[in-house]
Amino acid sequence: MELKSGNITLRSLKEEDAALMAELANNIKVSRNLRDGFPHPYTLKDSKLFIQNFSHHPQIKVFAIEFKDNYVGNISLAKGQDVYRKSAEIGYFIGEPYWNKGIITTAIIMITDYGFKLMDVLRIHAGVFEYNTASQHVLEKCGFNKEGIFRKSIYKENRLWDEIRYAKLIYKSDF
Ligand SMILES: CC(C)(COP(=O)(O)OP(=O)(O)OC[C@H]1O[C@@H](n2cnc3c(N)ncnc32)[C@H](O)[C@@H]1OP(=O)(O)O)[C@@H](O)C(=O)NCCC(=O)NCCS
Repeated sequence: MELKSGNITLRSLKEEDAALMAELANNIKVSRNLRDGFPHPYTLKDSKLFIQNFSHHPQIKVFAIEFKDNYVGNISLAKGQDVYRKSAEIGYFIGEPYWNKGIITTAIIMITDYGFKLMDVLRIHAGVFEYNTASQHVLEKCGFNKEGIFRKSIYKENRLWDEIRYAKLIYKSDF
């Protein structure tokens, strides 16, 4: 499965992505915005395990992001279970050398379109740490609405932070 928009391609992760993924992920400016399952330092062992576990996961669709044919990061949709099975959570990171080129804005638009059309979900949501203003801005640019604040729900770097919840729904007239 490959999706293309201009210079940006979303494709399946490959074992060969492990080295670049580890290099780009091993950056505190990336990991401080993500759950602790995305560790720091981030090693080749971590990226190999991630690729092994998530390349063919039944509930979680992970794409590698390519910019001008270079691997630059990942984007994923994790489908909910039980009563949440019509929702998915979006997650993403881009390596710092590639920030502010519009890459994630395009990738989010591509994966939300994919999720609504092919994953049988009606709602895609994201939880952003309060200090991650870049990601909040990007989600708003992509048509996500701020739905609420989970006060002090994040414990990161030895202190508590708010989580800002965003979501985008497929056209409401379809409900
Ligand atoms: C957040 C992240 C995905 C953004 O990716 P990106 O490809 O650089 O994003 P884009 O270039 O598409 O858009 C960035 C936008 O944020 C703006 N921006 C950049 N830094 C900002 C900041 N500190 N505060 C607010 N806005 C900021 C840019 O100006 C741009 O907006 P514009 O197009 O209106 O000018 C990237 O920085 C990243 O991977 N960060 C670490 C991991 C992470 O935060 N993941 C998401 C967890 S919810």
